Amino acid sequence: MKHPNLTIQAMFDPAQFATLGHALIETLVQHLEANLSGASKVLDWQDPASEDLHWQAPLPHRPTLDQNALFTKLESILKHNLAIHHPHNMGHQVSSPLPLAALCDMVAALTNQAMAVYEAGPSATMLERQVIRWLCALINEHTWGNAGGVLTSGGAQANLTALLVARQVTLSRHPKSHNIWREGATDALKLCILASEHAHYSISRAAGIMGMGTDSVIKVATNKQGQLGVNALIKAHQAYVKNGAIVMAVVANAGCTPSGSIDPLLSIGEYAQAHGLWFHVDGAHGASTLLSSLHRDRLKGISLADSVVWDGHKLMYMPAAISAVLFKEEQHSFAAFNQEASYLFQGESHQDETFNTSYRTLECTKRMMALKLWAAFSMYGIDGMGSLVDEAYVKAQLFAEKIKALPQFELLMWPETNIVCFRYLEVGLIPDLLNQHQSKIRQHIIQSGEFHLTQVDLHGLTWLRTTLMNPFTTAQDLDDLLKAVNDASQASLAN
Ligand SMILES: Cc1ncc(COP(=O)(O)O)c(C=O)c1O
Repeated sequence: MKHPNLTIQAMFDPAQFATLGHALIETLVQHLEANLSGASKVLDWQDPASEDLHWQAPLPHRPTLDQNALFTKLESILKHNLAIHHPHNMGHQVSSPLPLAALCDMVAALTNQAMAVYEAGPSATMLERQVIRWLCALINEHTWGNAGGVLTSGGAQANLTALLVARQVTLSRHPKSHNIWREGATDALKLCILASEHAHYSISRAAGIMGMGTDSVIKVATNKQGQLGVNALIKAHQAYVKNGAIVMAVVANAGCTPSGSIDPLLSIGEYAQAHGLWFHVDGAHGASTLLSSLHRDRLKGISLADSVVWDGHKLMYMPAAISAVLFKEEQHSFAAFNQEASYLFQGESHQDETFNTSYRTLECTKRMMALKLWAAFSMYGIDGMGSLVDEAYVKAQLFAEKIKALPQFELLMWPETNIVCFRYLEVGLIPDLLNQHQSKIRQHIIQSGEFHLTQVDLHGLTWLRTTLMNPFTTAQDLDDLLKAVNDASQASLAN
């Protein structure tokens, strides 16, 4: 170590950790308070290309910051990030995380339990198993009695894992089956996935990764409520079977990405069961509806699924990333990756590897994700966690009512979860220009830093899209957003 004041001992010094830690908590407390009060901008918009230049610095061979300078820099980093706890943050499906969960993530970081195998994180493994049991019990305590699964870093990866299992299991039941994991795909078998046209892009990305081609995902039409049409599904199924294709999974949404719509899980599940099809529910967004005693019936039929994906960093108010991929039959979870790696796995059978979670995940090393969810469930109970979902869903209804009451706005549909899509109907604009107008409104608003919202294209129309999941967004904030949209519309026309 060449720098005179820096020793390896100092880098790990518990006393210095305490000093830095207390100062860090103070900074974060102030940040949280400022965010929650809505005093600052929700986004301090800067052009990314000039920001990129601003950030460039030579490789720091020697220390360039002391503690004070680090905190000054940290304050600037916090200021220039999206203010996630701000009441005007209504954009992406990302939670304003529970502070308790953020603290747990610090424990995960410091203790760095690699989790690949049991011995690299004994308590971490047990916490994960407990959280998985709780999530499965929320789906159905009885019919999901043999269920199991794993935590992964994100819903996209969880969907890939579930679809790998779906393919392996479907092919193992097929007369022309072969071990696709070992032998690879052959031209003889034409596989496809039937999914809602609103399925998240991670479904077709998974098909691409799996070598099936993204065209193998057959997009089934939805109704006006954004829900997959069962008749359209049946027709697609019959047509593809007639053409000699093997349908390896039916994918339904429990909260689709564009509009939060929930597919008719019961009818789809019954159809899938009757025809021996793997039924996957992508509940990354909306599986948390199960936490709410008021709304859980909306997911009726989810227990018919063979696999379910459920994100913690959405409506379970966890910091990213924590996702669960759950299987009704735990044994299926071993089918995703038939990996041999003697330096990690020494078991004779899958069951011997039950406690070595990386046997069933794409990740080898992964973070101790379960602690934060386990702590939140334990400290707030399902009732407490469910109240967060209730709050979000009530707010979405309220916002929809406000939009419906104003003639210059069009509501896409009554929200089924907490995503509300709408557009501003500027008189006299032809359809293409009206679409562009929505984008201009959004750009104007997010660059002003007043609100954060997103947009989505559906059937040729562009919609403004809000995800109402910040418990501190008030009715007044919603009125203010509609006014901001009005004002942005006028400003965009004037430019
Ligand atoms: C329905 C759905 N599935 C999957 C994903 C991907 O999840 P993640 O961002 O956690 O990878 C999303 C993300 O928003 C989603 O909305």
